[in-house]
Amino acid sequence: MHTIFSGIQPSGTLTIGNYLGAIQHFIELQKENDCYFCIVDEHAITVPQDRLKLRNNIRSLAALYLASGINPEKSTLFIQSEVPAHTQLGWMLQSISYIGELERMTQFKDKAAKSAGKEAVSSALLTYPPLMASDILLYKTDVVPVGEDQKQHLELTRNLAERFNNKFNDIFTIPEVRIPEVGARIMSLQDPTKKMSKSDENEKAFISMLDEPKKIEKKIKSAVTDSDGIVTFDAENKPGISNLLTIHSSCSGESIENLETAFAGKGYGEFKQATAKAVIDILKPIQERYNELINSEKLDEILDKGADNASFEANKVLKKAKKAMGLGRVK
Ligand code: TYM
Repeated sequence: MHTIFSGIQPSGTLTIGNYLGAIQHFIELQKENDCYFCIVDEHAITVPQDRLKLRNNIRSLAALYLASGINPEKSTLFIQSEVPAHTQLGWMLQSISYIGELERMTQFKDKAAKSAGKEAVSSALLTYPPLMASDILLYKTDVVPVGEDQKQHLELTRNLAERFNNKFNDIFTIPEVRIPEVGARIMSLQDPTKKMSKSDENEKAFISMLDEPKKIEKKIKSAVTDSDGIVTFDAENKPGISNLLTIHSSCSGESIENLETAFAGKGYGEFKQATAKAVIDILKPIQERYNELINSEKLDEILDKGADNASFEANKVLKKAKKAMGLGRVK
């Protein structure tokens, strides 16, 4: 039995990338472990957000976690901003983070480059990784399941935990990262050399978990591929088809080799249709459960209970960390 923690930003409707890279694995992990799943709204405000949209996205994400199979009887599901210990420890970890190492984070560099440089991005975007470290370290987390893009943040989390332990006292558990073998980096349907992202401006680039079947079919049909007409996995030379193979395999459970055999001699049209079906078959039951949950009182009860449980656990670790740093008074 391990302690598992992971978080997702409520910065738009989740994509099939978030599902295949993260949530799908959470469902498996919760069977045998003590799990915390977080809606990291304080991370979302590191870039500008519309307040009403943010509120909707938070609720929608909670419903999607549950509709995908997170069981609130087994796992703790909560909203980051409802557990103040996260920002408290986040601040303390900032005090042992170096600006240089934060500036080296590729996600910071990418987002800063998109927003016309450092003058135009918030300082919270820079200090995002110590907050993420705080999320993880507050729960004595052993394992953090994430997609490939979070690897660098996880390395920094481990460094900060070790640095704190060496400098002050042995408080934090050093977490392991767990990245799935297949599906850790689902690519954009329009530019398969780029990660699929829920904040992409081009709606055709991603499949949202709430897209209707017709829309999913359309998006997969118009996915960018090569023109040689052979369904084989070759990420370098055939990134579009390889991405669709990964999506198909992760949704249907069929291995990539089996799919290559099944579609040998068949055209991309047929393969794309089958891929769309595999995606729709996974998403349809999730969407049905989502619609039942989204306006229910049950959802609020689960989030209230989750915040209470998370606060209780997080405050214990926060108290130890404050003591180790000499903050406040002896009580
Ligand atoms: P976020 O919200 O961008 O993504 C949530 C999860 O989905 C994974 N993911 C993908 N996996 C495969 N293919 C893709 N195209 C794809 N896009 C996203 C991400 O790797 C992630 O696992 N910083 C985090 C949120 C966070 C967090 C944490 C995660 C905050 N605190 C503590 C783990 C532990 C983020 O922005 O994820």
